Amino acid sequence: MKQIGIAVIGSGRIGTLRAEMARRHPAVRFLGVADIDLDRAQALGSRVGADLVSTDADALIAHPEVDAVFVSTPEFAHVAPVIAALEAGKPVLVEKPIAMSVEDADRIIAVLTERSGDLRVGYSRRFKECFLRSKEQMLHRRLGEVSGGLARVYNSRAQAFSILKRDPHATPVVDVLTYYVDLMNWFLDDLRPVEVIARGAKGIFRDAGFGADDVTWAIVTMSNGAVINYGVSYALPMRYPTLGQSDRVELLGRDGTMIVDDDHLDHLIYSDTGIPHAYVPDHSVNMAFLGSNTAGDWALGEFWGPLANETRAWLDRLVTGRPAAHATAQEARITLLTTLAMEQSARTGQNIAL
Ligand SMILES: NC(=O)c1ccc[n+]([C@@H]2O[C@H](COP(=O)([O-])OP(=O)(O)OC[C@H]3O[C@@H](n4cnc5c(N)ncnc54)[C@H](O)[C@@H]3O)[C@@H](O)[C@H]2O)c1
Repeated sequence: MKQIGIAVIGSGRIGTLRAEMARRHPAVRFLGVADIDLDRAQALGSRVGADLVSTDADALIAHPEVDAVFVSTPEFAHVAPVIAALEAGKPVLVEKPIAMSVEDADRIIAVLTERSGDLRVGYSRRFKECFLRSKEQMLHRRLGEVSGGLARVYNSRAQAFSILKRDPHATPVVDVLTYYVDLMNWFLDDLRPVEVIARGAKGIFRDAGFGADDVTWAIVTMSNGAVINYGVSYALPMRYPTLGQSDRVELLGRDGTMIVDDDHLDHLIYSDTGIPHAYVPDHSVNMAFLGSNTAGDWALGEFWGPLANETRAWLDRLVTGRPAAHATAQEARITLLTTLAMEQSARTGQNIAL
């Protein structure tokens, strides 16, 4: 079997999961981890038994043992390591969103094109099994021509504050609703979004000094005239039982309807002693929707779920060359453009043509 060397840039919550999955992959013979924070890099390095630990992302990316790179830095810090890896000719999986501005996405795509590089974006909802099954139905055209749909996602403010503290521009629209814009565009891959109208309401995030809306609703018109209703609120009460995303996705077609109820209300636990939140340190709830952790869950010493599927599929693809469903840079750019237009429309009250 082909053996590969992997670098993980950013040793935080998601970088840790990428590194854990890489360490378990049978084809990975070298694993390096980096972080600007030496303590974090060292903690992850000893947790996964890394072959190299560094605070110098560029040096790790350039290391001769490294064949491919995960970029798991915060949203505002994706561009530099992605470009460094592409310039070194190494395949990259970067976390979503690809960048925080269309200009930065275009800088990345220019290098990608010039180097004929290989860049995929971590839209891990694609790898949640309910959505893989949904995509399969769409490939078989079981709904016929689609005329509308809905995708909305809720989460507690505990997680929203954790994200906004990392990057105040990573609003629920740009950082979370982005997954559902990506999903819908993937399901409807012969269509493209052409117009956006959105409205938002301010409240607890504004009171805490952030620009994000508490609730955003948007309607996106697709190139065939289909209308998709998107919605996000990450302002639910601090101890609301979701441990990540509670969502619902619906598609309405001429020949069929598909409804994915992914709120997780059906897997409930209550504990007087509390259930720790996987993403928010020092936060616990008494009641939880099991299965609502966005990335997935640890069980019996292994990590399971969307991010595990996504990471394994990407590593498998590097080794076998088999195609995999990870979002391309162009797809991620369209998704970024759409979510930025939602914010602009909510801010200005205007319809935005894409
Ligand atoms: N797919 C998913 O399920 C999922 C879930 C949550 C977050 N994410 C994405 O993952 C990314 C990281 O999120 P997180 O929750 O792991 O954040 P985090 O804050 O836990 O970790 C980020 C780490 O990157 C380090 N860092 C910052 N700048 C750096 C730089 N220039 N070079 C090297 N390291 C740097 C930080 O010190 C930190 O340790 C974000 O883009 C986020 O949108 C994906």
